[in-house]
Amino acid sequence: MGGTGDELLMGRYRLYERLGQGGFGTVYRADQMAFGQPLREVAVKVSNRPLTASEARATFADALLLARLSDDCGDPTIRSRLVAIHDAGHCEEGRFEGRAYCVMELARGGSLRRRLTGRPLPLKQTLHYMSQIVGTVAYMHQGVTDGDGERRPIVHRDVKPSNVLIARADAEAGAGEQLKLTDFGLAVEVGPMLGWAEAGGTLCYMAPECFTEKRCSPATDVYSLGLLFYEMLTGVHPFEAVAAHVHSSMDERAPEVEEAHTRARQRETFGLLDRAAELREEPELRAVIRRCLEPEEAARYRDARDLLADLERATGEDETGPLLPRSVSARERILALVERGWRLRELGEREAAREVADRAMAMNRDRASVSEEQAVGEAYELQVRLMLDEGQVEEARLVANEGYRRRRCRGTCLAVAMCLEEINSPAARAFRAEARTHPPER
Ligand SMILES: Nc1ncnc2c1ncn2[C@@H]1O[C@H](COP(=O)(O)OP(=O)(O)OP(=O)(O)O)[C@@H](O)[C@H]1O
Ligand SMILES: [Mg+2]
Repeated sequence: MGGTGDELLMGRYRLYERLGQGGFGTVYRADQMAFGQPLREVAVKVSNRPLTASEARATFADALLLARLSDDCGDPTIRSRLVAIHDAGHCEEGRFEGRAYCVMELARGGSLRRRLTGRPLPLKQTLHYMSQIVGTVAYMHQGVTDGDGERRPIVHRDVKPSNVLIARADAEAGAGEQLKLTDFGLAVEVGPMLGWAEAGGTLCYMAPECFTEKRCSPATDVYSLGLLFYEMLTGVHPFEAVAAHVHSSMDERAPEVEEAHTRARQRETFGLLDRAAELREEPELRAVIRRCLEPEEAARYRDARDLLADLERATGEDETGPLLPRSVSARERILALVERGWRLRELGEREAAREVADRAMAMNRDRASVSEEQAVGEAYELQVRLMLDEGQVEEARLVANEGYRRRRCRGTCLAVAMCLEEINSPAARAFRAEARTHPPER
């Protein structure tokens, strides 16, 4: 396909400026036409080569996944950070015959790639960007509910600067900018049992397990997020030049290239982090980034929700408020903490679990950010369980009653039931029964 002629795609999209080309397709700025008039500006991605109808569907399956993610999303802020998809399909005739296309919201500020010019970005700007990106990926990792009511995390698999778009061109670099995540073409739902799927993505941003085991999990996205973080703060991408000299074949995945990347992943110590001027006074933030970049998957954050929680802790506050702008609602953050608390309890890390539960409860009690109907019952349930574990029956009862008075939901009913079971009261059964009549928090 040549330049940007005047022919309409599907009779209604006038492509007029080439924004860039990637592995699958070329992205154009376009006018969506109606009755011969431009209706709105959009971005249209057209596959680089003709495809069969089923290949087309597979290539742009992200349109469907994104729509599901958006529909499922109760948080308007997060929803606005997923690039809106307007249309997708397969051209049956005309100049674009056989091409697959996907019509999406136009991000006028271009991609984050353009902001990365080889120099470090200011820390505050980086945190502003990262809180949005990590918050959106955290939402994906929380997963969508499938037919069986099971939540399956979604792994993006291609988190990189060109897939992070900036909503508006005129916003001042930094504070006012809204970022949007795109290209869910490689995103997959991972099995709830295995927690991983086949690896895909872009070599430079891939985690070690993608090379060595050809698989990925939410922790794989955490690694890519770590690289993005690293690149913003140091101005350098540690693997950009890896294997640039290998002229083996057209196939990017040639074994030699993979081998070179595997070696680079083993050798890299991410030393620039310790030398970056703005990070000198931020040992905790450096530790967070290093943990994202751990070669061993199990040593990283399990998913972006864990990363977000720890990032909030590590960045703390200054006189103007939290250093890391809040990217998800208080309720989402409480739920993420609760999940972490249960995991720590399972691991026998009681003290750490209590700390996390206390933080979740402090947020849960702050009525300025969590209304009565929004109170998270599961936070009460966790807190009560941990108190009972330590034999603090009376304190647990007070917390359970507070929760139940505030909101009758599954978590608060279970909290009361646990306290009653502790003193062998038969009344516990009624509360367990009531708990079953309430839906889970998410
Ligand atoms: N909705 C959009 N609005 C504005 N620019 C976009 C939009 N979608 C993509 N782009 C830009 O168009 C260019 C090409 O995008 P594309 O996704 O095809 O390739 P890529 O992200 O560079 O690589 P890959 O094919 O691996 O995803 C990128 O610079 C991207 O930032
Ligand atoms: Mg892309």
